Amino acid sequence: MDVLLQAALEARGHAHAPFSHFLVGAAIEAADGRIYGGCNVENSSYGLTMCAERTAIFRAVAEGAKRFTRIAVVADTPQLTPPCGACRQVLWDLCGDLEVVLFNLAGASETFRLSDLLPRAFDATYLD
Ligand code: THU
Repeated sequence: MDVLLQAALEARGHAHAPFSHFLVGAAIEAADGRIYGGCNVENSSYGLTMCAERTAIFRAVAEGAKRFTRIAVVADTPQLTPPCGACRQVLWDLCGDLEVVLFNLAGASETFRLSDLLPRAFDATYLD
């Protein structure tokens, strides 16, 4: 299996989801080949929950990574789980037109461009 998908699966094993019981793993690949995993981390004040995708990208940025090529996202759903709107926006800002690989525990997978998942995105170019 692709090492990026393996890293996402491994990260899913650390998901902290005592409220939804919906376990998500993500792994982001930097341009230099390094991989950073993330899982969802829920909070008793529900709105403070952090998705797996943002955990992964924030971790990567915190560790000094700057350019990114792909993110993989895994959940146990027959219909592949896509990043939520907040994660799409954060990924666009920090990564640009990333490749997004969705997969599930049954082995189904599908790949998208972030620009297809978030058309006409708002970003820093509007602030110039
Ligand atoms: N979640 C993610 O981590 N990523 C997604 O792509 C969709 C949703 C999490 C947030 C929350 O912990 C749980 O899944 C249910 O929404």
